[in-house]
Amino acid sequence: MESRKSDACSPHTDSAEHALRAAVSLADLARIAATRIEPTAWDYYRSGAWDETTLARNEVAWRELEIHYRGMVDVSKRSMRTTLFGREIACPLIVAPTAMQKLAHRDGECATARAASAANLPMCLSSLATTALEEVRAATAGPLWMQVYISQDRGFTRDLVARADAAGIEAFAVTADTPVWGVRERDMRNGFRVPDDLRIVNLERPGGPTGHSGVGMGGALSWTIDPSLTWRDVELLASWTTRPILVKGLCRPDDVRAAFDAGAKGVWISNHGGRQLDGAPATASVLAPCAEAAHGRGAVIVDGGIRRGIDMLRAIALGADAVAIGRPVLWGLGAGGETGVTRALAMLSQEFDLAMALAGVRSISEIRALADGLVRVR
Ligand code: FNR
Ligand code: LAC
Repeated sequence: MESRKSDACSPHTDSAEHALRAAVSLADLARIAATRIEPTAWDYYRSGAWDETTLARNEVAWRELEIHYRGMVDVSKRSMRTTLFGREIACPLIVAPTAMQKLAHRDGECATARAASAANLPMCLSSLATTALEEVRAATAGPLWMQVYISQDRGFTRDLVARADAAGIEAFAVTADTPVWGVRERDMRNGFRVPDDLRIVNLERPGGPTGHSGVGMGGALSWTIDPSLTWRDVELLASWTTRPILVKGLCRPDDVRAAFDAGAKGVWISNHGGRQLDGAPATASVLAPCAEAAHGRGAVIVDGGIRRGIDMLRAIALGADAVAIGRPVLWGLGAGGETGVTRALAMLSQEFDLAMALAGVRSISEIRALADGLVRVR
């Protein structure tokens, strides 16, 4: 864990800061992060399940979508602003929940929260965070959501949701694509496990296991997910809180309808960044029918392989209210802590602004109105 502990006097610091300043794209941030994050943690972050076909498809599928830009539109004034669950945000971009951010940088989730808040963008905290949710809430005035796995111990999850609700968490995303942990073979080969100096602090039970045993997410963390979950459990979750609930990890229109029927206020089209069922479709391929099923019922978020502002434009045109990014935030965090996350969010939102101008659109509602006139499959 050398890189995580490196301090301001590290001989690497100057060159890393220089590299961060010189970075112009998310891919540049990934290259810097790869040199700074401990190798087995880097493998944990970058992995997809089994043959990683869905992981690869996620990125490629956005690029397959052509943008039929308009010419001669006055784009000198434009706005990326939008509203989600009653809060105005700077642009339709959300920090997706990713586990154990202290693997990327010692400041972990608080650094991410501060960067997201300064950019006026929502952050969704993972329930497998390495920082107490109250501490993260205290670090940010911005919109803060939390992802939950409904655990085998329903009472524990109910208490966790009550605790998060009381702390001021504004929405809950319940993950639907993880009845069991996906298989990431790099983690198996590396014997990756939660390092001894980190704690999955929000999921600790008195006398319970701490998360340090077993390979990958298995072993001690298996009680935190439950293969018997059904839509009834989403109804149960909705009965525990008045905050909006999103169901995260859907790819089918019938599941989108079921989520709203169960009381969700939003759906999150996602395949967990290709980390759960390998062979699942790229999110770009299923977004349009899912957004149609959601029409008029609540918010639609999409994630998986969003790496450019043009991907944001494509997603909004296909019916998303906002996109989320997982790994790019970890790249920023690994490359330079809070500054690095700020850079990652700024890169994407600046690219999105330019993409709007180049496509001849001035607002989120204008992108939506043009819809498939703007973005089409090749
Ligand atoms: C995740 N993701 C995830 N999702 C979730 O619901 N709870 C979690 O704890 C995690 N943890 C996690 C860790 C790491 C290392 C990654 C890469 C991903 C999935 C995440 O929220 C999101 O769906 C994907 O990361 C989106 O894909 P991209 O942007 O990484 O391509
Ligand atoms: C992962 C789990 C924590 O993707 O969601 O590693």
